[in-house]
Amino acid sequence: MAQQVKAVVARAKGAPVEVTTIVVPDPGLGEAVVRIQACGVCHTDLHYREGGINDEFPFLLGHEAAGIVETVGEGVTEVAPGDFVVLNWRAVCGQCRSCQRGRPQYCFNTHNAKQKMTLLDGTELSPALGIGAFAEKTLVAAGQCTKVDPAADPAVAGLLGCGVMAGIGAAINTGNVGRGDSVAVIGCGGVGGAAVLGSRLAGAAKIIAVDIDDRKLATARKLGATHTVNSTSTDAVEAIRELTGGNGADVVVEAVGRPETYKQAFYARDLAGTVVLVGVPTPEMQLELPLLDVFGRGGALKSSWYGDCLPSRDFPMLIDLYLQGRLDLGAFVSETIELDAVEQAFERMHHGDVLRSVVVL
Ligand code: APR
Ligand code: ZN
Ligand code: ZN
Repeated sequence: MAQQVKAVVARAKGAPVEVTTIVVPDPGLGEAVVRIQACGVCHTDLHYREGGINDEFPFLLGHEAAGIVETVGEGVTEVAPGDFVVLNWRAVCGQCRSCQRGRPQYCFNTHNAKQKMTLLDGTELSPALGIGAFAEKTLVAAGQCTKVDPAADPAVAGLLGCGVMAGIGAAINTGNVGRGDSVAVIGCGGVGGAAVLGSRLAGAAKIIAVDIDDRKLATARKLGATHTVNSTSTDAVEAIRELTGGNGADVVVEAVGRPETYKQAFYARDLAGTVVLVGVPTPEMQLELPLLDVFGRGGALKSSWYGDCLPSRDFPMLIDLYLQGRLDLGAFVSETIELDAVEQAFERMHHGDVLRSVVVL
């Protein structure tokens, strides 16, 4: 039976989001309805509501979520009612060329649930990023649900659905940070902070956090940074070189997404070091570099898409480490808020004093 629930809806480009009643149908073939317990507020939600990415308003937002599977449709074997799950915003197909070559992050046929949720008047809602989890309940593809240990706090578990996984994965999956490595992380917001945490988990000996905001550097220290550099007053590349015996870092993670920080990342790597680009640039951004520096320093330039994560492998593992007290995922929850406070959380993003606001239902 279709049910009516409260959800955050973006009605028009740039307009404040509002909480309204939506209709969630029964799950169809391969789908599940999940009762959302918590959902983090991500920059991408704000970008969607500001317009320009997908202008099919009205739509649902929220994609860093955890909750309980309520009902499943035909053919669902992955999860069952009652399971505690973390959602991901890309159900991969497992069949396409990318999936077959072990690169599901680049799947050509993601099959998130076809949108069938509506407003009360029947207007169709598109869930931005394929989830729509700022809602009491949402409809997803079963492949978007990953079971994890139900002992985990939902507000913490949900964060693995996007930014925190992107940062941890940038370090441990894309960057292959290893024991004893030196790592520099440029930009220590939610994503960069998670890259610091991931680097510590991987056993990095030196973790240099770079940011323009001292509050972010203080947080990075708590997450495991051994050194901090405020790049408004210090040259980031020189500082990283100095802290690594004049060499540069084995792995440099860029978590801002701007030309100047891409350039810093590029020059802060050791000879044959690895640059991991997890900050997302905008379409008009350009960077000019001497080709001889690209060639001469060697190493690898890698972009990290969703932390190169495999949800079924990484979500349960990271939750287990968190429950064992070995991974401080709780540090990313700056505040918990109600469903009707998402718009205020967007405003706070501009002030830079929160890592993550998390809606708890
Ligand atoms: N140099 C260093 N740090 C910077 C600079 C700069 N020039 N400009 C901004 N920063 C810092 C900010 O102070 C902030 O701490 O980068 C951090 C960005 O963090 P958030 O705004 O919290 O963004 P986050 O969610 O971490 O995402 C960062 O990764 O996945 C991508 O799309 C995402 O491009 C975005 C990036
Ligand atoms: Zn996100
Ligand atoms: Zn695929």
